[in-house]
Amino acid sequence: MEKLETKRLLLRPLTIDDSGRIEELAGDYDVAKSTLNIPHPYPKGSAIQFIESIFNAEKNNKILMFAITEKELQLLIGLININLSSPYNRGELAYWVGKQYWGKDYGTEATKKVMEYGFNHLNLNKIFAASFTSNPGSWRIMEKVGLKYEGTLKQHVARFGQFYDLAYYGLLKEEFKTETQNKSTNNK
Ligand SMILES: CC(C)(COP(=O)(O)OP(=O)(O)OC[C@H]1O[C@@H](n2cnc3c(N)ncnc32)[C@H](O)[C@@H]1OP(=O)(O)O)[C@@H](O)C(=O)NCCC(=O)NCCS
Repeated sequence: MEKLETKRLLLRPLTIDDSGRIEELAGDYDVAKSTLNIPHPYPKGSAIQFIESIFNAEKNNKILMFAITEKELQLLIGLININLSSPYNRGELAYWVGKQYWGKDYGTEATKKVMEYGFNHLNLNKIFAASFTSNPGSWRIMEKVGLKYEGTLKQHVARFGQFYDLAYYGLLKEEFKTETQNKSTNNK
């Protein structure tokens, strides 16, 4: 699996050694509460099984998971993944960033890079993502990277005893190509 580089970030494959840091950052209720999969409280030691399950899923082409690391400090600050649906040549983005790193545009920087990778290198036909409508940090990232709003599924999921509406955003390869071409023409 490749490493992806942005101005401030290195997105790299997970290693078992990341387990402690994942537990530390994802163990924060404010990070877990707007995701569907992060357990809370995060059981001590269980991130190792999580990482092993990711290795398995990667072998089966179900997922690509990147540790989001600050380039300078080489410190893991979050995770971003693209779930792959091979029959449809489609990928679903999901991400979290440790709370002390929120609001620095890291989420947007990482998501933009993985989206470009999905279209340009994985040759996906569609990339989409979903977020609770009550989680503006997440749907703003989707808007900022150029995903388009497709609709909202009402009370589609429940988390910690409360139902949530899910907003879906997506982009097709043909739309991505057109937008990329337009940008390069406008920059000339
Ligand atoms: C959602 C999350 C990834 C955002 O990461 P981040 O690195 O802080 O995001 P960015 O700094 O790139 O900011 C994204 C945009 O959302 C906005 N935003 C962030 N939090 C917000 C809030 N609470 N209310 C309104 N806007 C908010 C930012 O201002 C920014 O938009 P702007 O540039 O127009 O100002 C992070 O908050 C997180 O990990 N949350 C917990 C897990 C989660 O919700 N994951 C997504 C599940 S779908």
